[in-house]
Amino acid sequence: MNISDAIIRAADVARPQARRGRVADYIPQLRALDPELFGLAVIELDGSEHVVGDVDIAFPIQSMSKVFSLIVAMQKIGGEQDVHRQIWQRVGREPSGDPFNSLVQLEHECGIPRNPMINAGALVIDDLLIEHCADPVLSIRQLVGELAGDPIEIDFEVAAAENDASQRNRAMASLMAAFGNLNNDVDKVLEVYNTQCSLMMSARQIARAMRFLANDGTDPASGRQVLPSSLAKRVMALMLTCGTYDAAGEFAFSVGLPCKSGVAGGIMAAAPDHSGICVWSPPLDSSGSSLAGRVALHELTDRLNLSIF
Ligand code: DON
Repeated sequence: MNISDAIIRAADVARPQARRGRVADYIPQLRALDPELFGLAVIELDGSEHVVGDVDIAFPIQSMSKVFSLIVAMQKIGGEQDVHRQIWQRVGREPSGDPFNSLVQLEHECGIPRNPMINAGALVIDDLLIEHCADPVLSIRQLVGELAGDPIEIDFEVAAAENDASQRNRAMASLMAAFGNLNNDVDKVLEVYNTQCSLMMSARQIARAMRFLANDGTDPASGRQVLPSSLAKRVMALMLTCGTYDAAGEFAFSVGLPCKSGVAGGIMAAAPDHSGICVWSPPLDSSGSSLAGRVALHELTDRLNLSIF
């Protein structure tokens, strides 16, 4: 089946499933999202864009930003050995099997988060970025802007609302500081995290930004090597095993691609040697990923035979 037919079929199957999910309600800007919104974008490495639905409406990328902040940290730190010394001594690489904002493991495991895709891990990455970048959010914003081929805005009202609702993240950051795994002021780290979550991108832009991972670390639009292929494959491994939290097994089973979800209902994926993909549908499943989004990716990867397995 060709890609244009596959995305239409996938959207037809997935759209009605959104009714079974619930839109995030912890901040007003997410609570107000229309549950009927749905967009699916598949952008091939040669630049061909296949889209259906609401692919040009910008929404907060939320936890999808954790992939981009990790990439900036890897870029700033440099070679694989230094990445190992500076990142993997402080953040693990195991799926947590717990919700993205769980505090439980952090206490048992002495302030070392299981992986950089859960909130605690992303906070440690931001702590590192504060040490390595003059303006960490600007660095992330420049990266996504370059990959998307468009300037990317920040919704500062979303960032302020995130800050007002950040009690659990604050608790995690404080616990990690108590264990000596956070070097900067908790408020400063939270500000970076809340602002990166409030970067506003459309499904089309996010799908474009995923293509370099699908292309061994080199952005096919510019030819620039964003990451060495050895690190690009590790980012994808983390997305596959940890990017959708305690549903990562289900995603590997039903979608079979490295994916990362966000609480505004976006899920991005990299299909190696094929495309960057993003689906957006705000109602979430119980693990915090878009319900219809997962169904759409399942249908799409089955129809196009895209699973890496
Ligand atoms: O920190 C939080 O909880 C949110 N700003 C982001 C969480 C998120 O996107 C989880 N992913 N599905």
